[in-house]
Amino acid sequence: MKFYIHTFGCQMNASDSEHIAGMLLASGMTASPIPEESDLIIVNTCAVREKSEEKLYSLLGRLESLKKDKGTIVGIVGCVAQLHRSKLWDKKPSLDFIIGPDNYGKIPKILPNLPSEKVLFTDWSSDWTDQPIQQIERDSKVCAYITIMEGCNNFCAYCVVPFTRGREKYRPIPSIKDEAEDLASRGYKEIQLLGQNVNSYTDPETGKNFAALLKEINNIGNIEWIRFITSHPKNFTDEIAFVMKESNKVCHQLHLPIQSGSSSVLQRMNRGYTREDYLEKIDLLREMMPDIHLSTDIIVGFPDETQAEFQETLGLLADVRYSNIFSFRYSPRPLTAAAKKEDNVALVEKKNRLIQVQSLQKKIQLEKNKSFIGQTQKILCTGISRKDPHVYAGRNAGYQVVNFTSPNDVRNRFVWVKIHSCGPYSLFGEVKEFSSRNN
Ligand code: SAH
Ligand code: SF4
Ligand code: F3S
Repeated sequence: MKFYIHTFGCQMNASDSEHIAGMLLASGMTASPIPEESDLIIVNTCAVREKSEEKLYSLLGRLESLKKDKGTIVGIVGCVAQLHRSKLWDKKPSLDFIIGPDNYGKIPKILPNLPSEKVLFTDWSSDWTDQPIQQIERDSKVCAYITIMEGCNNFCAYCVVPFTRGREKYRPIPSIKDEAEDLASRGYKEIQLLGQNVNSYTDPETGKNFAALLKEINNIGNIEWIRFITSHPKNFTDEIAFVMKESNKVCHQLHLPIQSGSSSVLQRMNRGYTREDYLEKIDLLREMMPDIHLSTDIIVGFPDETQAEFQETLGLLADVRYSNIFSFRYSPRPLTAAAKKEDNVALVEKKNRLIQVQSLQKKIQLEKNKSFIGQTQKILCTGISRKDPHVYAGRNAGYQVVNFTSPNDVRNRFVWVKIHSCGPYSLFGEVKEFSSRNN
């Protein structure tokens, strides 16, 4: 039997899909990149914005004919599965299974009974359950995700994630270290620690915090770059910044979502910090690590966001000058506190605010990127450029995309690249030197 997995959403989902693929391979199936040729199609779903859900329904619409013609088994997993549970059958009666994030370990067991039996697994478990790490089918041979926690306790007013991923539960440090050591022994160079709110990590056995975890991971073999996502400004401590500064492996790069530059909007969002608290942390980070690359998430058009409040977001972007941002129009989500309020910023105004955010940021990024021209940077090459197969693609320590030419195939290796030009979203260069000890 062949399977195909389509993944929507964040790194958490990408990582879960790698785990699911590993389980299916271990149970004797083969992976296929082509849905039409597969016997089983799994869609790993995202519920964070209405648009993410709409994309799912249009994909399922397209898959329906495959089911009719070939009897393909189609099931969904992930955040939409958990959010709507059996109600999804009202919308899509042909779905063979609906399985939420806490139940992926059961997937191999249900396979023999499909498609005669419809399956729903959406219960929560309160403790961390380890998955066999040898089974993970990773997309990359050089960068790997390591999940350190699941769920979120924060209940930001706009966010559905606490309802799709449940409450926080943490993976024990020895289990995290085992996975990191296994990756190091197989030649991985970069690891990314994953969780919805990694800064609140607490080892369930010893009570050690995220800073302590980072320190322990820093000692692991041939791993050269360590990153983590996502941080929450209210839980990001001076101690974490200090470990980042002192570590020779933790990249000087941080994604620190602010969401809005206005303290009154932040309060209505239930974010637990003010604009001033946030800016203080940014100042400290830059003082400790002048070379740090910062990125953030912005939501425009949250209920009651005034023109003056929105201007504060633009002002903040101009002050902080992030290396990269992800910006979204507010989208009301089921079960969230904000969904009870009127979604009263008109769509045209939301669109307008988003354009203003994105065009300001584009200008800032272009200016910042120009300052890297002439520098030689260490790049981890991860593949070939999507636009040109003669051009290699990778990222620098700051997590910026760098496209470059090279006379040799340097995929999955560190290289030194001289930057000769740039656009707002990437840097361009040519390879100067291959890093010595990483073939
Ligand atoms: N745990 C992470 C990511 C959450 S989802 C965090 O706390 O930052 C990723 C981003 O999607 C959020 O940071 C937010 O900017 C955006 N987002 C979440 N819910 C949204 C909504 N209802 N409408 C618009 N954007 C939303
Ligand atoms: Fe959502 Fe807030 Fe939790 Fe992030 S911290 S996942 S935005 S509730
Ligand atoms: Fe989406 Fe779930 Fe991630 S809602 S952003 S896939 S945690």
